[in-house]
Amino acid sequence: MNRAMERDRRPTPLARRAAWLKLRAGRVRDLMLSGRARSELWTRWRHGAAVHQDVSLSFPDRYAALFRLTQRLLAGRSAPRILSYGCAAGEEVVSLRGYFPEAVLVGAEINPVLLRACRRLPADPQRHFVKSTPERIAAHGPYDAIFAMAVFTRRPHEVEARGMHNIAAHYPFAHFAAGIRLLAEQLAPGGLLIVEHALYRVEDAIADLPLEPVMIAGNARAKHARFDRDGNRIEPNPQISRIFRRR
Ligand SMILES: C[S@@+](CC[C@H](N)C(=O)[O-])C[C@H]1O[C@@H](n2cnc3c(N)ncnc32)[C@H](O)[C@@H]1O
Repeated sequence: MNRAMERDRRPTPLARRAAWLKLRAGRVRDLMLSGRARSELWTRWRHGAAVHQDVSLSFPDRYAALFRLTQRLLAGRSAPRILSYGCAAGEEVVSLRGYFPEAVLVGAEINPVLLRACRRLPADPQRHFVKSTPERIAAHGPYDAIFAMAVFTRRPHEVEARGMHNIAAHYPFAHFAAGIRLLAEQLAPGGLLIVEHALYRVEDAIADLPLEPVMIAGNARAKHARFDRDGNRIEPNPQISRIFRRR
């Protein structure tokens, strides 16, 4: 698709305004009806700068294709240690057990209400849920794979509804890059970092890290917008890698 066609596909300001109002109305309704939505707001207020995505949407088997791909890439490792960073109420960790029956699974979450929900899940002796601090994550590592899915982002629907062309104030690149660095440090040699639904490109954050993209057929254009290091929208959506290996 050329640039002119991309421009034609962009929503009009009126359509965007309507989408933004709908989003706001939905948020108010959620806050009134859902304890989970209220816990997101509280976590944002309590943990502020440490939070990446502050919405906790998740569902079982959300990334089947990436889970299967990782399964293939880890085939040589028995009992791998796997971290789900930003595990919400444990949906991702429970799904991962289906793909990695022998693994030690660790879920890290910043929202204390969700962390309590994780700990109420049916017992699994090879699974741990931890508060998301570098020390508690490191205590169970190093990891053969780390999933950071829909974490290194911030309300992407709001970004679109408000037609943001620069997100530096909304979600700074430095915060994203610090998150990638933290996870890179938790990987075992040869370990994999899998990132999906980020607002920035991992490729832009790893110049001084021992991480390289794994070239796979699944590498494709990002389905949603990506932004450069200055927070400016990249148009059209760029080609991205989703899996990176620690050298
Ligand atoms: C959209 S959910 C993604 C859940 C799951 N990974 C998935 O993709 O289905 C984002 C989660 O990341 C959590 N989160 C945000 N910042 C975090 C941080 N610094 N450490 C750990 N979790 C964080 C949020 O509380 C939320 O539960």
